[in-house]
Amino acid sequence: MRPIRNIVILTGAGISAESGIDTFRGGGGLWERHRVEDVATPEAFARDPDLVLRFYDMRRAAIQTRAPNPAHDALARLDHQWSGDLLIVTQNVDDLHERAGARRVLHMHGQHLSAWCTACDTRSPWRETLIDRPPCPACGKRTLRPDVVWFGEMPYEMERIYGALRSADLFVSIGTSGAVYPAAGFVRDARQLGAATLELNLERSQGSAWFHETRLGPAGELVPEWVDEVLASQ
Ligand code: OAD
Repeated sequence: MRPIRNIVILTGAGISAESGIDTFRGGGGLWERHRVEDVATPEAFARDPDLVLRFYDMRRAAIQTRAPNPAHDALARLDHQWSGDLLIVTQNVDDLHERAGARRVLHMHGQHLSAWCTACDTRSPWRETLIDRPPCPACGKRTLRPDVVWFGEMPYEMERIYGALRSADLFVSIGTSGAVYPAAGFVRDARQLGAATLELNLERSQGSAWFHETRLGPAGELVPEWVDEVLASQ
């Protein structure tokens, strides 16, 4: 294996589980109370915008009552202390990486705390509800939607992600089931491009066979341990 300078980290719902935010596919996961096609597709939004806006209003309010856990804190520490390239690609739409202090974060599935105007294409920081159709701060039209990527839509910043994967020496996946593409394919891409691959998860993900190493346990324990290790190797 080559020396580690450039790291790409993929995070999923499992890293926020210990902060009290439901995962998607675990017991009690979000989709069990709402069918995915009722709340997380463009078709659902066209069919029943009130249902979709209310659902995301609840999620947006809920994440603001949650706090980062030791796994987010550890990645923020790594971000501050790692002198090589580092990119935290998160599938999560919460802001717990940022609140822990991480800066090199890319939200490939969008963010709860952002609203997207479908009329003028402006994205605005957003903490309030959208159900009452507030005006877009940029153009004034009442055409805001949650700035999250729904099923059937293209994840954000894929070129930047693949650029980082191409130069990665180490790819680490944390708290994701490996069920949703394209994120689920990053491990195979990274490995074929020559990176070492490590999985930190409560249980084996669907793409587990692609990882050189898998460590099983809660992110709040595994991530701080791994960060200590990788910083010591610097
Ligand atoms: P999932 O709910 O599919 O997977 C969460 C993973 O985290 C599972 O493999 C769990 O075993 C693991 N896990 C749970 N608790 C954990 C803990 N305390 N420590 C470590 N791991 C733990 O969530 P994602 O893989 O993030 O997309 O889901 C991917 C995408 O599917 C989401 O971004 C979302 C969803 O549809 C969109 O909304 C576009």
